[in-house]
Amino acid sequence: MRAAVLFLALAAGPAGAGDARDEGRRIFDRVCAACHFNDLSEAPQVKQPDMWAPRLAKGRDALYRSALEGFVGASGEEMPPRGGQPELSDEAVRAAVDYIVSITTQKGVSP
Ligand code: HEC
Repeated sequence: MRAAVLFLALAAGPAGAGDARDEGRRIFDRVCAACHFNDLSEAPQVKQPDMWAPRLAKGRDALYRSALEGFVGASGEEMPPRGGQPELSDEAVRAAVDYIVSITTQKGVSP
């Protein structure tokens, strides 16, 4: 039931409030999903709260910084600055981080 509600919320698409969350989702789909939504790399996958817990523990500002400036952690794989898209604004990158965190923690209740 909860999953169905979430699906409907996502399916509502850009017709919803044209806010930062929509921008975050667009940026995520276009740039970040390549690594964070298909298991191809060591990148922490969205909707996998276990993979994000130690990162969330660093605080949202640390995650913004990693996304803006790039980050190489224990995995040895690179999170490229701005997902490799230098033309993205700070706001767009932060919105994408917020989107990742929101869809990951929303599902955080499932096993
Ligand atoms: C080319 C692949 C790639 C792309 C594209 C990419 N990432 Fe990442 N990202 C990674 C990898 C790999 C890591 C894990 C790095 C590590 O912990 O060693 C990571 C980690 C992160 C982290 C956690 C950083 C931390 O401090 O723990 C955030 C936040 C993040 N990415 C956000 C984004 C956002 C937002 C975008 C889109 C604008 C994006 N990523 C695009 C590969 C990518």
